[in-house]
Amino acid sequence: MSAELLKIAVIVGSTRKARFGPVVAGWFAEQVRQRDDMELDLVDLVEAALPYELPDFHRGEEPAPVRALAPRLAAADGFVFVTPEYNHSYPASLKNVVDWYLKEWQAKPVGFVSYGGLAGGLRAVEHLRPILSEVHAITVRDVVSFHGVWERFDTSGRPVEPQGCNAAAKTMLDQLAWWARALRTARAERPYGA
Ligand SMILES: Cc1cc2nc3c(=O)[nH]c(=O)nc-3n(C[C@H](O)[C@H](O)[C@H](O)COP(=O)(O)O)c2cc1C
Repeated sequence: MSAELLKIAVIVGSTRKARFGPVVAGWFAEQVRQRDDMELDLVDLVEAALPYELPDFHRGEEPAPVRALAPRLAAADGFVFVTPEYNHSYPASLKNVVDWYLKEWQAKPVGFVSYGGLAGGLRAVEHLRPILSEVHAITVRDVVSFHGVWERFDTSGRPVEPQGCNAAAKTMLDQLAWWARALRTARAERPYGA
């Protein structure tokens, strides 16, 4: 087993001006930072500023923001999507980042931190799973989910009841780590042939 740190890219999915996402992502990033088996790359899709007009693929140069993000995704051994729920699904920004790339996702695991109103973003997660499967990623079973998210963090961005969500984060990250390590070894032994 390789002791090399697993590179985990945490992707902040919401891009609204008034978004709550950075509060959730900030807490979760800290959960990753506290582990001794992972190193974090926090990818904010506001900063990534990917265009929404998809090109004819494999023709001509990709836009600069797409090229800038590519090596960060390529370097990742695994991903966590931090997703809100909009109208019973995920935000367009997450679909857009999935659509811009392919090999960067292949044979890598994706975990989820979801949040929203009543369903805690779980409908967004279940819609993301088949999309990620199309780009040859695998998704981790357990999810970290916050329903009624506005009441779950205090004014300084700390969870009101940290015990439950910290434990859920550990469960999900342990599963992600297993897959990330197993698939990194597998990709090194035999390039993924999709
Ligand atoms: C357009 C829109 C649609 C929403 N639809 C849902 C929904 O279907 N289910 C839900 O639980 N919450 C829904 N919400 C509440 C969001 O999940 C909640 O506002 C969350 O904070 C959004 O994440 P963000 O602030 O990081 O963008 C919706 C919010 C918006 C803006």
